[in-house]
Amino acid sequence: MAPTTDTSILIFGASGDLTSRKLIPALFRLSQQQYLSERCPVIGVARRAKTHDEFRDEMKSVVSARLGDKFDAAAWQVFAKQLFYQQLDISTPSEYSTLKSGLESIESQCGMSGEPTRIVYLATTPSLFAPAVEGLNAAGMIPTRELATKLRVVVEKPFGRDLKSAQELAAQLDRYLHESQMYRIDHYLGKETVQNILLFRFGNAIFEPLLNRNHVDHIQITVAEAQGMEGARGGYYDTSGAMRDVLQNHVLQLLCLIAMDPPSLFQAREIRDEKLKVLQALRPGMPGPIGNWAVRGQYTAGLVNRQPALAYREEERVSPTSNRETYVAMRVAIDNWRWAGVPFYLRTGKRLPKQVTEIAIQFKNPPLNLFSTVECDGDLCDLVETRPNQLIIRIQPQEAISLRFSTKRPGMNYQVQPVSMDFAYDEHFDAQLPEAYERLLLDVMRGDSTLFTRCDELEAAWRFLTPVLEAWESSSSSPDFYPAGTWGPPSADRLIAESRALWRTPR
Ligand code: BG6
Repeated sequence: MAPTTDTSILIFGASGDLTSRKLIPALFRLSQQQYLSERCPVIGVARRAKTHDEFRDEMKSVVSARLGDKFDAAAWQVFAKQLFYQQLDISTPSEYSTLKSGLESIESQCGMSGEPTRIVYLATTPSLFAPAVEGLNAAGMIPTRELATKLRVVVEKPFGRDLKSAQELAAQLDRYLHESQMYRIDHYLGKETVQNILLFRFGNAIFEPLLNRNHVDHIQITVAEAQGMEGARGGYYDTSGAMRDVLQNHVLQLLCLIAMDPPSLFQAREIRDEKLKVLQALRPGMPGPIGNWAVRGQYTAGLVNRQPALAYREEERVSPTSNRETYVAMRVAIDNWRWAGVPFYLRTGKRLPKQVTEIAIQFKNPPLNLFSTVECDGDLCDLVETRPNQLIIRIQPQEAISLRFSTKRPGMNYQVQPVSMDFAYDEHFDAQLPEAYERLLLDVMRGDSTLFTRCDELEAAWRFLTPVLEAWESSSSSPDFYPAGTWGPPSADRLIAESRALWRTPR
């Protein structure tokens, strides 16, 4: 946990949204918490000419506006001293020698000597990943194999748009970089509650024995968002869609963490080996055509949080005839001894009623239902039975873990009452949960790749999903429509009805 020293952090794409919204605030927090040594320069790299001070001022105005009253001006003064700017056209290899000399002068200004560790964060469009690495190579900035980890390259998603393009990109980067130098970010893995899945499962003895085909009826993973195409994201999203934007990465990573076997060691290789096995065992959740197990939807106009919301096709920078999916639901199977026969229901979408991410594990019913009672309210009578136990891991917001079970309602009869045991983060911990990017950037500085996606994991994910994307993209039919502010199209409900289950309506 010691503060890192002698590390330069270069952010390619410094004029982009990600830099000002996530990366600089995360580095600022790390500096405030003494995780980032004052000697580590943070260098914004972008095409436009700018002075160091202009860059500092720009970042300050975004971060202070974001933090409002919580902005600590004195701490920013300290941090700003280690902020620098370097102009570079990433796609022009001849400019990298200027980058190198500029960097060396900043490093010596910061008192760094010897062979510093350099982190290059590619917060750029994916088409610049390969040119950036080629440029670094042309300027002799890629160290020899023995010193490989002195250069760490962080790559933002999307890493390819299907199996073929992901393999091509991997091959381009492989020419210059070793796998140990690559840090492929999936920011979900940096979330505190996501990391807690492994501790909850493998740091307690009582839950893990239940997580298998003998006890689990099915598992639902939901990543729901109320937002639509805010921030003019329509242009990007209309070439991407819910599958590439969220399901292929965030949802499948959650699936891996909840389904994987225990690693023999809590280390990057062992953990990622186990995640890979889950991805390799993924199968369609139903036989027959893709429509039997995968549904795509698109929002039409509606009301979200009582506010009118445009239809997706009316959003800025979205084609008015777009068939891009803003919602995906899938039933998948994991073909291994632990999970054979257990359906996993995955869903994600924009313009759903609320923002919520959760994993809900529904257990099987007891073998015999001893406690069904008939309860009447006037003339209306209902058969009340014990409900299946549920374990709900709430990733965000209101981070929590809840266990639902049945109890006897106090009284002279055996009447069933469902109740819940809840652990809520905000009731137990005073500290604010760290932002995902803080943890991930610190891990890159420490050289710990546990929370980053390995190349073979990515390939396995694309291998499974590419046929679905191809089927959708070659079809002339529209996605199934759902009004903004609802929980997705009715076809998604039919998908889960196969298990005589319903999608949960998260609180
Ligand atoms: C990003 C997607 O990766 O994840 C966005 O590109 C999405 O479309 C976001 O909104 C969700 O992340 P979070 O942390 O807000 O749940």
